[in-house]
Amino acid sequence: MKIANDASPILNSSCFGCHSGPFSSLETLLNAQAGDDYSSSLNANMPWITLGDPATSYMHLKIQGTAAYGTQMPRNQTPLGNSEQVIIEQCIVQGAQ
Ligand code: HEC
Repeated sequence: MKIANDASPILNSSCFGCHSGPFSSLETLLNAQAGDDYSSSLNANMPWITLGDPATSYMHLKIQGTAAYGTQMPRNQTPLGNSEQVIIEQCIVQGAQ
């Protein structure tokens, strides 16, 4: 599983509309930090993705709805399905860009 091949199609269709900056390329996504977009969560002090560690990947926590700040993503929409959440989690676990 790779973020570029497997996670990006999901993120582009469900998230890009509101987060065009972080999701504009794999490089911007891997460099995004809590507070970079919409700045709801500077205090989270966590990268959006920590390769190999979903528990410290803020994007993963936002998708699960377990982040310390703000609401579950995609905002005001149906949460991602379980299989989509697992694909994104596995890409992070495997650390595969
Ligand atoms: C309808 C617009 C909208 C959609 C769609 C959306 N988001 Fe968000 N997102 C927001 C807003 C507004 C915030 C700030 C409020 C909050 O944190 O709840 C936010 C915050 C975030 C943050 C924290 C930002 C930061 O830098 O602190 C992450 C990570 C995030 N969203 C990921 C996602 C992901 C992943 C998806 C797709 C599954 C998604 N969002 C879909 C509007 C959206």
